[in-house]
Amino acid sequence: PLVSMRELLDHAAENGYGIPAFNVNNLEQVQAVMEAAKETGAPVILQASAGARKYAGEPFIKHLILAALESYPDIPLVMHQDHGQSPAVCEGAIGLGFSSVMMDGSLEADGKTIASYDYNVEVTRKVVDMAHKSGVTVEGELGCLGSLETMKGDKEDGHGTDSTMTREQLLTDPEQAADFVKRTQLDALAIAIGTSHGAYKFSRKPTGDILAIDRIREINKRIPNTHLVMHGSSSVPQELLAMINQYGGKMKETYGVPVEEIQEAIKFGVRKINIDTDIRLAMTGAVRKFLAENLDKFDMRDWMKPAREAAKQVCKARYLQFGCEGQA
Ligand code: G3H
Ligand code: 13P
Ligand code: NA
Ligand code: ZN
Repeated sequence: PLVSMRELLDHAAENGYGIPAFNVNNLEQVQAVMEAAKETGAPVILQASAGARKYAGEPFIKHLILAALESYPDIPLVMHQDHGQSPAVCEGAIGLGFSSVMMDGSLEADGKTIASYDYNVEVTRKVVDMAHKSGVTVEGELGCLGSLETMKGDKEDGHGTDSTMTREQLLTDPEQAADFVKRTQLDALAIAIGTSHGAYKFSRKPTGDILAIDRIREINKRIPNTHLVMHGSSSVPQELLAMINQYGGKMKETYGVPVEEIQEAIKFGVRKINIDTDIRLAMTGAVRKFLAENLDKFDMRDWMKPAREAAKQVCKARYLQFGCEGQA
């Protein structure tokens, strides 16, 4: 059934696990996530970015997710809009039937300029008023995502700035988070704790302290009833990069967020863990390998199948690693 995100995250909090939220753009990605959930007994959060809605078109995104519901009627599923840039965008998603929306008021409507705190409060509050009337969950974001290794804000996918920032600027302030929750009444809060979007997060292999775990703990203490969300949570598995490069790709050396650090974050209140890049890497590696080894093949189903399978393996791994097994 279609459920609100609040319902799933409340259950995750009561039972001490985290739920990966997978970005989807097409049929094969939706199928991969659903099969992984079925095989592990996990609840599902499917999320569509603005880019996904532009790529597939809103009706296709909506009906792909409705098809998932029809094909897997027993799996609790959240249809979430990722990074809504304005109350109007969130209103549109609610109209389409999304059961959860993110109002990312940490940036202005252009998706680039860092917004003032007052702007963020205002647009988020507005979306909460609108969404809660129809039982729709609201995720907001406070702070500037960015890497504590490079001290640079997140510039991937137009989510922010690439100028150098201070540690304090790159971390969500616990006091401000408490005020934000009080003033907006939102359900889930994306926090800046050292992650950034995309494949190029860290240039050196993380040695165990890439996330600001203490900060997560402090924020959780101040807002225990608000579910914490971690964006930019791909782990960038080295074997996937190696596969891409072995079969003709040219990706630079890069590292993601180690799964063990995410597991630590889950202990301190992180409940929704956003993953897009790992699925992209898995599918690209599988397609490159298949096409390199089968030069005579031209039926797209032949190469989409291994891509879908590789995506499923990533999703299954995360469901198990984050404690979702049998929680659906
Ligand atoms: O929010 C970031 C996700 O990775 C979506 O990326 O905007 O390229 O679809 P996208
Ligand atoms: P990754 O790029 O690390 O997969 O993060 C995705 C994300 O946060 C989507 O909102
Ligand atoms: Na932000
Ligand atoms: Zn994100």
